[in-house]
Amino acid sequence: MKRRVAILISGRGSNMTALLEAARAQDFPAEIVVVISNRADAAGLAKARSSGVPTVTIESKPLGKDRAGFEAKLQSVLDEHRVELICLGGFMRLFTAEFVQRWYGRMLNIHPSLLPSFPGLDPHGQALRAGVKISGATVHFVIPETDAGPIVMQGAVAVRDDDTAETLAARVLEIEHRIYPDALRLVAGGGTRLEHGICKTDAYGSPDDSLISPEVI
Ligand code: GAR
Repeated sequence: MKRRVAILISGRGSNMTALLEAARAQDFPAEIVVVISNRADAAGLAKARSSGVPTVTIESKPLGKDRAGFEAKLQSVLDEHRVELICLGGFMRLFTAEFVQRWYGRMLNIHPSLLPSFPGLDPHGQALRAGVKISGATVHFVIPETDAGPIVMQGAVAVRDDDTAETLAARVLEIEHRIYPDALRLVAGGGTRLEHGICKTDAYGSPDDSLISPEVI
């Protein structure tokens, strides 16, 4: 039985699109049963609709800081669609600790840095200012702290001296689109377990899983 997944978005939804495409494969262990946005103008909504996936908008702006009010509406949509796993894809609204705890181990997020480095806003600017030579993206289980929680999968890219936040973001985004579907495959297929706040898996890195940057020739 495929696990029933909701994707939550606030914007363009490119990670959502990567997940929708991956979920088309017959052997993919999850199906995307609904895409939920907290903004009616999220560009990703049209893409989801054109893929034939039901979409729901729960406008968060009128609710202001009433997080519990928003989450009550969200939970009823999740219940209606019998959702088992949530994937956040650029979902830019914070949850209450109660909601996060209810979904602990069943809610994934993707963040464009190698967490625990550079959580929050402008991760690529943070990476460039820190002068790191390798950056990347992280899929993790959600905990109440923002952009933190048990790490399921990471992918890395070399940072170049002439990178801007935009060029680095573009290369990291390609990695995001690879690791999010793979991480969902792993989690939905039962290939992960949480032990004392750490995500363990039977999968390993690729045969040549070293990345050295810069490379001295
Ligand atoms: C992605 O880069 C995602 O990693 C980031 O928002 C972007 C959404 O793009 N998420 C965060 O920064 C979470 N803190 P998308 O709408 O095209 O998937």
